[in-house]
Amino acid sequence: MIGLAVLGYVSLLLLSATSYACTRVLQPGSPYGSIQPSQLRNLVTFGDSYTDHTAFKTSNMTAWPIYAASYSNASLYPFAKAGAVCSQAITPIPFPEVNLVDAQLPNYFNASLDLNMTESLFTLWIGTNDLGQLGLLTGQNTPGMSLIDTTACAVNWVKTLYDSGARNFLFQQVIPLQLVPIYTPESYPDRYWTAERNTTEWSITMEQYACTVVNLATFMLRDLVQTLPGAHVGIFDTYSMYTDMYENPQNYFNGTAPLNVKTPGKSCVFTIGESTTDTGNCTIAGPTDRDSFMWWDELHPSEQSARTLAKHVAEVISTGKNKWTTWLS
Ligand SMILES: *[C@@H]1O[C@H](CO)[C@@H](O)[C@H](O)[C@H]1NC(C)=O
Ligand SMILES: *[C@@H]1O[C@H](CO)[C@@H](O)[C@H](O)[C@H]1NC(C)=O
Ligand SMILES: *[C@@H]1O[C@H](CO)[C@@H](O)[C@H](O)[C@H]1NC(C)=O
Ligand SMILES: *[C@@H]1O[C@H](CO)[C@@H](O)[C@H](O)[C@H]1NC(C)=O
Ligand SMILES: *[C@@H]1O[C@H](CO)[C@@H](O)[C@H](O)[C@H]1NC(C)=O
Ligand SMILES: *[C@@H]1O[C@H](CO)[C@@H](O)[C@H](O)[C@H]1NC(C)=O
Ligand SMILES: *[C@@H]1O[C@H](CO)[C@@H](O)[C@H](O)[C@H]1NC(C)=O
Repeated sequence: MIGLAVLGYVSLLLLSATSYACTRVLQPGSPYGSIQPSQLRNLVTFGDSYTDHTAFKTSNMTAWPIYAASYSNASLYPFAKAGAVCSQAITPIPFPEVNLVDAQLPNYFNASLDLNMTESLFTLWIGTNDLGQLGLLTGQNTPGMSLIDTTACAVNWVKTLYDSGARNFLFQQVIPLQLVPIYTPESYPDRYWTAERNTTEWSITMEQYACTVVNLATFMLRDLVQTLPGAHVGIFDTYSMYTDMYENPQNYFNGTAPLNVKTPGKSCVFTIGESTTDTGNCTIAGPTDRDSFMWWDELHPSEQSARTLAKHVAEVISTGKNKWTTWLS
């Protein structure tokens, strides 16, 4: 009996050890939520430059929400803003007028959209700025604030919208930030950071931040959904999807240049200490070459990466289920 109990305990330990890998969605959860096919007609998006549909217009890039709405015939209500963090109170950034809590949510409420909440999906993808060189990575947080606060802030977005009537949520996890060109060990001075730094240390730190935040968010959301009757909360595992894109680029990228998951399509090399308002020494992929690249610039995913994300979010909208999505409620 005791032997069996010990064996049971050991296998439980082993099981929980595997399920804590960053690249796995934590259970319990279900790939089948209770959202019906064709139920969703509206897509309401929040986040940072990864989601802001205006951010890369001048480079002729279309953002994922526009693709997702078009692939699924949904109406798009975009509130994401480039440069955003979750809250100025946690990680004060130079552009306070864009953050989620003080700008995007008030903009949404002020818009007084008359949405049928059964038919509306709310998405949030935030964290790169909170964790990165504008935020925690370089200690630019309010004293005492940490990964716990940035994650709780993002998770609380669900609660705020739920209290106003929203019911369907897709929470997009952070990506493996250590793979973003600015956060790799091979990183060079770029338009987002030219000061001297130890790129190996940045990379190690961003990997720990991203892995921790993915799992913290999952735990916090699992707690929160217990208190939200009638809500449907899905976790979109952007972390694993991006890891898969990095490891199996042939399944995702289709441009006319050799596939490239390391160097951005628009790579601009600066010198150490150079002003970030300079242009740098740029190599820019042409219109058909760019779809070979995972990253557009040193900090942002490419348009083809955006199309992949859009395809999967569109599948959530159209069918209610998707391979990267786990429903907690
Ligand atoms: C964007 O596309 C338009 C139309 O195809 C083209 O005229 C323009 O040069 C492009 N701009 C950039 C920055 O690639
Ligand atoms: C979107 O609408 C078009 C035209 O009405 C239709 O052909 C297509 O099947 C629709 N797609 C989805 C995913 O509903
Ligand atoms: C709220 O919306 C109204 C009408 O669109 C606009 O005039 C006003 O400036 C907005 N207020 C804020 C605080 O955004
Ligand atoms: C909202 O949408 C649902 C599902 O499409 C529908 O059954 C319901 O009648 C709609 N509610 C209103 C107030 O239009
Ligand atoms: C950068 O950080 C790594 C990891 O801490 C360390 O091994 C390496 O020596 C550092 N490089 C320099 C130039 O300080
Ligand atoms: C790559 O695939 C996307 C669809 O995912 C398509 O829109 C795009 O035109 C393709 N790019 C090239 C260069 O063929
Ligand atoms: C810019 O980069 C290219 C390719 O890496 C290099 O050949 C060239 O010398 C660089 N130009 C300057 C002004 O540094």
